[in-house]
Amino acid sequence: MNFCGFVLIFGLSMMIRSSTSELFHRPEGEAFYYAPYVGLKSIPDENITWYKNNSKEISNNEDERVHYHGATLLFLELKIEDSGLYIARHKTPSGKCDKYSLKLVVFDKSEVGKLLYGRISSSSQKIRVPCPDNVKETCKAFKGNFAWEKDFKPLRNEDSNYLWVTNTGQTANIYSCICTWRHNEKEYNTSGSRNVIVKARAIHRRPILLSPVNKEQFADEGMGITLNCSGLCGTNAASSCRAYWLIDGKTFKSTDGYSCTTKIENPTENTTAIASLIIQKVTAKDFQTTFTCFVEGLTDVVNSTLTLKPRESVTPLIIGGLCVLFLCVTAAVLIKYFAIDLALLFRPYLPLSREKQDGRVYDAYVVYKAQDMDKAIEDTLSSFVTKKLPSVLEEKCGYRLFIHGRDDIPGEDRLELVEDCMKQSRRLMVILTPGPESQTSSSSPEDSIMGGFDWQVGLHHVLVQREMSVILIQLGDMGPQGYTHLPPGLQHLIHKSAPIKWPKDSRAASKCNSRFWKRVRYLMPATPAKKYHQSSII
Ligand SMILES: *[C@@H]1O[C@H](CO)[C@@H](O)[C@H](O)[C@H]1NC(C)=O
Ligand SMILES: *[C@@H]1O[C@H](CO)[C@@H](O)[C@H](O)[C@H]1NC(C)=O
Ligand SMILES: *[C@@H]1O[C@H](CO)[C@@H](O)[C@H](O)[C@H]1NC(C)=O
Ligand SMILES: *[C@@H]1O[C@H](CO)[C@@H](O)[C@H](O)[C@H]1NC(C)=O
Ligand SMILES: *[C@@H]1O[C@H](CO)[C@@H](O)[C@H](O)[C@H]1NC(C)=O
Ligand SMILES: *[C@@H]1O[C@H](CO)[C@@H](O)[C@H](O)[C@H]1NC(C)=O
Repeated sequence: MNFCGFVLIFGLSMMIRSSTSELFHRPEGEAFYYAPYVGLKSIPDENITWYKNNSKEISNNEDERVHYHGATLLFLELKIEDSGLYIARHKTPSGKCDKYSLKLVVFDKSEVGKLLYGRISSSSQKIRVPCPDNVKETCKAFKGNFAWEKDFKPLRNEDSNYLWVTNTGQTANIYSCICTWRHNEKEYNTSGSRNVIVKARAIHRRPILLSPVNKEQFADEGMGITLNCSGLCGTNAASSCRAYWLIDGKTFKSTDGYSCTTKIENPTENTTAIASLIIQKVTAKDFQTTFTCFVEGLTDVVNSTLTLKPRESVTPLIIGGLCVLFLCVTAAVLIKYFAIDLALLFRPYLPLSREKQDGRVYDAYVVYKAQDMDKAIEDTLSSFVTKKLPSVLEEKCGYRLFIHGRDDIPGEDRLELVEDCMKQSRRLMVILTPGPESQTSSSSPEDSIMGGFDWQVGLHHVLVQREMSVILIQLGDMGPQGYTHLPPGLQHLIHKSAPIKWPKDSRAASKCNSRFWKRVRYLMPATPAKKYHQSSII
């Protein structure tokens, strides 16, 4: 083995191991031209030998499908089996031995989309797509013509070794440069494809703050709140768009009870940066703190400060309102319930009504019906009229009453007496009793011996002359027939104001300050007649 052979083998093994040989992926059926580098092109064919990896020597016969010229290697129509390592051995004038190699992978034409030359990715307005070097060199060597394809469809009027792609928004296409050249009167094609990724054009502008809108934000102490800082940076501007918060002008740690999440939304259209500051629990200190939101674009930063304000709770207002309402209702109830008591209480101090000067002798003229009634009612009536009424109103309250049966003087002219006494009375007190249970009694209310006439006279005074007001007192339950047994005039009065019911069984009923007597007293004149006419009575 001579020296050159040793060097070749040594170099070859080194090359294979270090894989420094150029690698080419070429589609089946195309032509492939390989030229190592400019300085070697003038080597005479006899000074160089080409091998396929450890296989036979390659011829320099132009008619061969695979042949060489000096340092260049030519494949006129690639076949899958052409894949492999090719080595050139060059004997230099100085006697030294030079070598170079290339690795070729021939693939099926249908796979061209997978095996592409360098990718181009840009967001520029115009993108320059150069024809792959090998294709360009081939075209130069054989004075071929360029043609271009986009996604394997011809592009018209493109015959340069580069192509301009205009940015019309986000796209990704395969652009192929095809060189058609002639050799020995035959036409061959050599092509190379690239993936060109066009990114939407970035338009950066001074950020526009979207949030916070207000300088103040209501917050509840002890509750959590999220403060949102967001702004627009432009179109496709995600690479230089940022939002963040500073607390009192400083960055913060999550241990302070604050945390922040950031995100970029819609990065191709209106690029929006968002920073959400999460306050775990709002403290009193936070109401004295300044939160500043920053949105940073490519060239500008904008900011907005925000302070928290304690939210005015509506609960005290509601409670206050309810209290006032409750007090009002209570007061209304109390006034309603104790109106009579209050009136009785203050009556002595109020300026006395003109009744004082009316000169009448009796405070009330008491009328009742003493016939056609059940025994029980008769007892009740008799006890009420003869005992209870005088003992409370006369003895305890000092009123003067004209009571039938008691104050009638026997033999006196009844008609005249009734008329007279009525005129001398300030009130007409009507004692109502239930009607007879059986309707057998033919008596009408008007013709009862006692009371019938009095009633008529009294009602006349009350209803027609309106000289005195009436006090209605009811003894016992009226039963299902109601007040129908009473004269219509009286029924009318009952309809206007309900009678005061005598609580027969109540123990307090005999007391002057019982509810019943208070109601009666309330309706009685403020000042008993007795006081002013003491002399005339005695
Ligand atoms: C070169 O040939 C040898 C055998 O002759 C083989 O083992 C080796 O893998 C081949 N290398 C390449 C790159 O084809
Ligand atoms: C080619 O080889 C011959 C000898 O075989 C030598 O004289 C000549 O200089 C070589 N030419 C080149 C360009 O290497
Ligand atoms: C070369 O490519 C062109 C299209 O650019 C095509 O029309 C022509 O048939 C191809 N020639 C060969 C030999 O493949
Ligand atoms: C911030 O945004 C979140 C949802 O994105 C919302 O729940 C929260 O109420 C916002 N904060 C303020 C203060 O508006
Ligand atoms: C982008 O923002 C502008 C206002 O800044 C608005 O007019 C436009 O509708 C927005 N575009 C989209 C897609 O949201
Ligand atoms: C916030 O913006 C105002 C102008 O709007 C500027 O004067 C101020 O310096 C900015 N603050 C910071 C902390 O950058």
